[in-house]
Amino acid sequence: MKKKLRVAILFGGRSAEHEISVISARNIAAAMDKNKYEIVSIGIDKHGRWVLDEGARRLLGSRQTRVKLQRGSEARAVIPGGAQPPVARVSARAPLAGVDVVFPVLHGPFGEDGTVQGLLKLANVPFVGAGVLGSAIGMDKDVMKRLLRDAKIPVAKFSVFERGSGDGIDFAAVKRALGVPLFVKPANLGSSVGISKVRNEKQFGAAIKDAFVYDTKIIIEENIRGREIECSVLGNQTPIASVPGEIITRHDFYSYDAKYIDEKGARLVIPAELPPALVRKIQQLAIKTFQILCCQGMARVDFFLRDHRDVIVNEINTIPGFTKISMYPKLWEASGIPYSNLIDRLIELALEKFRAESRLRTSK
Ligand SMILES: Nc1ncnc2c1ncn2[C@@H]1O[C@H](COP(=O)(O)OP(=O)(O)O)[C@@H](O)[C@H]1O
Ligand SMILES: [Mg+2]
Repeated sequence: MKKKLRVAILFGGRSAEHEISVISARNIAAAMDKNKYEIVSIGIDKHGRWVLDEGARRLLGSRQTRVKLQRGSEARAVIPGGAQPPVARVSARAPLAGVDVVFPVLHGPFGEDGTVQGLLKLANVPFVGAGVLGSAIGMDKDVMKRLLRDAKIPVAKFSVFERGSGDGIDFAAVKRALGVPLFVKPANLGSSVGISKVRNEKQFGAAIKDAFVYDTKIIIEENIRGREIECSVLGNQTPIASVPGEIITRHDFYSYDAKYIDEKGARLVIPAELPPALVRKIQQLAIKTFQILCCQGMARVDFFLRDHRDVIVNEINTIPGFTKISMYPKLWEASGIPYSNLIDRLIELALEKFRAESRLRTSK
């Protein structure tokens, strides 16, 4: 019999989407073919501590959505430098069996932003999704939008400000450049945390203050009026795009509350109702965006559709939600790739990428 592939699922993490990540990981674990894979569950608690073993496994089998370092379970650490096993007790090099591939199911900073990817790269383990660069670019709305703008991909007009750079941000000047309403966002975050839609100077001041709570860099964007369309991308060198879907929210915008608090906050329409020519255009733009932003494996590209014709890229998500009702897997299902086949494919792509990178020389 062929040896089973040991797949570590990394879930939880320090971000606002901790709970979503746990649900995503649980669905992924449930969908994986147990004849092919042996699953190693690694939970990361809200403090960033790694929890491996029974505790984490039990959690995935339960309805609980919070990873906690409990008495009896030990914090673990990755050993950088290609050591085998790559994960060990913090205190001693306990013989934990080697992992063949890691599936990081972490959203936001400390998971989706290249940090975990860097750690896994140092540990010399294949992993699902974008590498260090693509992950970091995808997390930073400023860098992401500059690269897209440079490639002539339509994005909202924007301005960027660093904390402590000068004497405050002048509302009148920003309004002249971008109009109102405006969107104020932390450059590096997700889940709509720290994002405000503002119409006047008073709201503007409060929004800036709030965004700077989450990042030292903020981005201010013109408001794009239009539909919100999302498209899933899958692949390494030759990525493919799914049918697009639509998010319809009953809130002022697709805010944190609309995403996670209000159960009826948003509705997914899959596939989105669009003429075929527009579907093709969105798919082509999704693939181009994926490539320009140095992504690998998977990503969800989010768009605005203005006036039924202008397709504008809003952002890329390199580790999209993976619950059974999440847009990323739903769009693949609607495109003919069922959930568990999608997981197989993502693992294959991770191994493929790792093999290709392993063949590279790092010195003369
Ligand atoms: N420039 C914009 N114009 C109109 N709506 C926007 C704009 N930027 C963001 N939004 C709204 O805010 C939501 C969250 O913004 P987004 O940039 O996607 O951040 P996040 O990474 O937190 O999801 C979007 O889904 C959309 O509803
Ligand atoms: Mg978004």
